[in-house]
Amino acid sequence: MMTGSFIVLEGIDGCGSTTAAKVLGSQLQSHGVKVHITNEPTDGPAGALIRLALKKRVTLAPKAIALLFAADRLDHLNRPGTGILALLEQDYIVVSDRYKLSSYAYQSTEPGIELAWIKEINRQAREPDLTILMDLPPKQALERKVSQQTAEGMELYEYQEKQEAVRQCFLSSTKELIDKGHKAITIDAGKPMNEVHEEVLKLVTATLEA
Ligand code: TYD
Repeated sequence: MMTGSFIVLEGIDGCGSTTAAKVLGSQLQSHGVKVHITNEPTDGPAGALIRLALKKRVTLAPKAIALLFAADRLDHLNRPGTGILALLEQDYIVVSDRYKLSSYAYQSTEPGIELAWIKEINRQAREPDLTILMDLPPKQALERKVSQQTAEGMELYEYQEKQEAVRQCFLSSTKELIDKGHKAITIDAGKPMNEVHEEVLKLVTATLEA
């Protein structure tokens, strides 16, 4: 098996990407592969500021949030010694729960922001070796989330109309990646969880063996 691959899981809030990343990580580890599971926003300083905005504890202009996500991403990639690029060089399989497609989908659907600008500020972020979009209707995804938290606990983007727009942008951006020759795929995340996890593992294994 070839190592040193960058795998990304994407999708709307409640699509199950966090659990899927963890499950994928332990499955790969049990095959003796060097794996690093990570996520965006990160736990770095830019990520910390982003989380305050997501929890509505600070108010930031949507364009400033977009720049913070892009900054957090470049820090995630380039952090000396521990960044994604350094880990890939050490032959790790890096699995990220969210990456730049999340910025395309969430930030370009904010008022006054164009997708072209979001792409521009994320241009320096390396393309993943595989992007898996875990597609799910927002109603189903929000039901999962609401059952876990109160309405007041809902984060900045966790309302249905937003998630609907985000979903459409995820779908079109994934199609665009495929059209440009990148490895990307949309899967149905509404299936039973074990089936989704099996499908993710198959796709990743195929990419690693390619
Ligand atoms: P999420 O993965 O849901 O984190 P948590 O499980 O801790 O809530 O991500 C937090 C939110 O950040 C989610 O609503 C999506 C949003 N987000 C963006 O708007 N742009 C981005 O570039 C990224 C990575 C996430």
